[in-house]
Amino acid sequence: MDPPRHTKIRRLLGGLFTPRRMEESEDFLWRLADRQIDEFLTTGTVEVLHGFAQPFALLTIADLLGVPETDHDDFRRHLLAQQVGALSEGEALATNPLDYLDTKFTTYLTDRRTHPQDDVLGALAAATYPDGQLPEVVELVRLATFLFGAGQDTTARLITAGIRHLAETPDLQAALRADHTLIGDFVEELLRMDGPVKGDFRLTRTTTELAGRTVPAGTVVMVLPGAANRDPARFEDPHTFDLGRVNAREHVAFGRGVHTCPGGPLARIEGRIAIERFLDRTTTLTINADRHGPVGRRSYRYEPTYILRGLAELHVDFTPAD
Ligand code: HEM
Repeated sequence: MDPPRHTKIRRLLGGLFTPRRMEESEDFLWRLADRQIDEFLTTGTVEVLHGFAQPFALLTIADLLGVPETDHDDFRRHLLAQQVGALSEGEALATNPLDYLDTKFTTYLTDRRTHPQDDVLGALAAATYPDGQLPEVVELVRLATFLFGAGQDTTARLITAGIRHLAETPDLQAALRADHTLIGDFVEELLRMDGPVKGDFRLTRTTTELAGRTVPAGTVVMVLPGAANRDPARFEDPHTFDLGRVNAREHVAFGRGVHTCPGGPLARIEGRIAIERFLDRTTTLTINADRHGPVGRRSYRYEPTYILRGLAELHVDFTPAD
C-alpha cells in the first residue's frame, strides 16, 4: 500500500504503540513468559518454537490489541491449531485462522461502537482517520488481523534463534546469565545476524536507477535485509556474533522509510523478556543432541520460504532453577 492511503491507515495504529502502551505490554509480558515456561519447566526439555516462542508472541499481540485475557486460551487454540492435539479433527478442518480473527474482532469492535468502553479495543473502535472520518469496522478488523500476521511469527522466530545462539555458545550464555543488562545488546546483534525477515518486496512503478542499474517499471524487487546486515563495508567482521558491536543498531532488520516496522519496540521488549526469563528459570541450557546432532555436526531445519528466515523447530535441554 502506498501513501496517501497507507499514511491514513497507518495512523490508526498510532494509539497502539505509545510508550504508555509499551509499558503496559511489558507488565503483561513478564507474567506471560513465566506462564509459558511453567508449562514445560519440570520436563527439562522443550521444543522452543511451538512450546514457548509462538504462544508467547501470539498472546503478546492479543494483549496489545486488548483481547480480554479470558479469551487468550481460545485464541491460542484456534490460531496455533497446528499444535498436536490442540483441536479435534473436525474443529481443525473448520478452522481458518483468518475467519476466526475476523469474527472475533468484528464482534469486539461492533460491540464497542455501540457500547463505548475505556479499553484498548474501545480506543481502536473510536480511532479516526486524520480527516476525522470514522473507519468502517472492516478496515479495523483487517488491521488487527494484519498485526497477527506481521508480529507473531517474526518475533517467535527471533526468540527461537536467540535461544539457539545461547545454547550453542556457552560463553555468551554465561555472560548473559551473569549480567542481564547485556540482553538488550544481545537482541540487537541477533536482529542483525539472524533477523527473521528474509525478503521485503517492492514493485517499481516507474523506471528507476538504483546503484548504477536500471530497474524497469513493473519489476518486482526483492530487498534482502540480512544481506545488508552483513555488509562488510558497514559491519566489521560481519559473520561474527559480537555482543560488543558498537554499531549493531544500524541494522535494517525492521526495514527503513515509511513502511518501517511499527512493532520494532515491542519486538525488542518481547525478545529481552523471553530471553531473560528463560535464563532466570534455568541453570543450564544446551541443544538436544538426539534431535540436532552432536557439537560440530549439528543439523537445523529452516522454513522453506523466501519471506522468513526461521528455524522450523528447536529442541533444547535445560536444568530447571530451584
Ligand atoms: C522481530 C520481529 C519483527 C521483525 C524482524 C519485523 C520486521 C518488519 C519489516 C522488515 C517490515 C517492513 C516491511 C517492508 O518494508 O516491506 C515490517 C513491517 C511491519 N511490521 Fe514488523 N517486524 C517484527 C515484529 C513486528 C511486530 C511485533 C508487529 C506488531 C505488533 C509488527 C507489525 C508490522 C506492521 C504493521 C508492518 C507494516 C508497516 C507498514 O507497511 O507501514 N512487526 N516489519
